[in-house]
Amino acid sequence: MTRIAIYAGSFDPITRGHEDLMLRSLGFVDRLVVAVTTNLAKQPLFSVDERAALIRAAVGNEARIEVRAFSGLLVDFAREAGATMIIRGLRAVSDFEYEYQMALMNRHLSPSLETIFMVPSLDTTYISSSLVREIARFGGDVSGLVHPAVVEALRGKYPRA
Ligand code: COA
Repeated sequence: MTRIAIYAGSFDPITRGHEDLMLRSLGFVDRLVVAVTTNLAKQPLFSVDERAALIRAAVGNEARIEVRAFSGLLVDFAREAGATMIIRGLRAVSDFEYEYQMALMNRHLSPSLETIFMVPSLDTTYISSSLVREIARFGGDVSGLVHPAVVEALRGKYPRA
């Protein structure tokens, strides 16, 4: 049986933290579907297509990672993709409450879909997409936090980056 997992998020933009989790998950899944969506609570900087293209650039030619856009419920997308697992990263205790609630709600909606929590590498735990955007917006150096393709894309949005 092919083990397929979904890693969903807004990835606005993808950071080294997301990349770390994606590559780590390939240690126990056969195929990872990175599912790009727009969180209704957030106003994205990059379009879904731009975010998906940046993810592809960042993960290079890793054949086991597929990047797809989706809208609607994650559990429906997971079912359609043939996934049996949802991958989530827990960076700090502060992530836990929200993640726990989401995992239980997704289980309520789709009992056979398991959520797997992963611990990111220590040196990426403080990264978030919104902090990266904010630093870039005010001309700070984000080159240690994101792939060079993302640095370029941020320069396109914020000429001072
Ligand atoms: N490294 C670095 N940053 C990370 C990270 C990691 N390992 N893991 C998460 N983050 C950051 C993200 O960049 C994001 O930063 P931001 O808030 O500054 O943008 C933040 O942590 C939150 O990420 P995440 O929890 O993945 O939220 P999201 O908004 O990107 O995605 C969805 C949330 C899309 C997974 C969720 O809203 C969803 O499933 N939506 C579909 C609709 C649905 O099914 N709803 C019912 C859910 S029960």
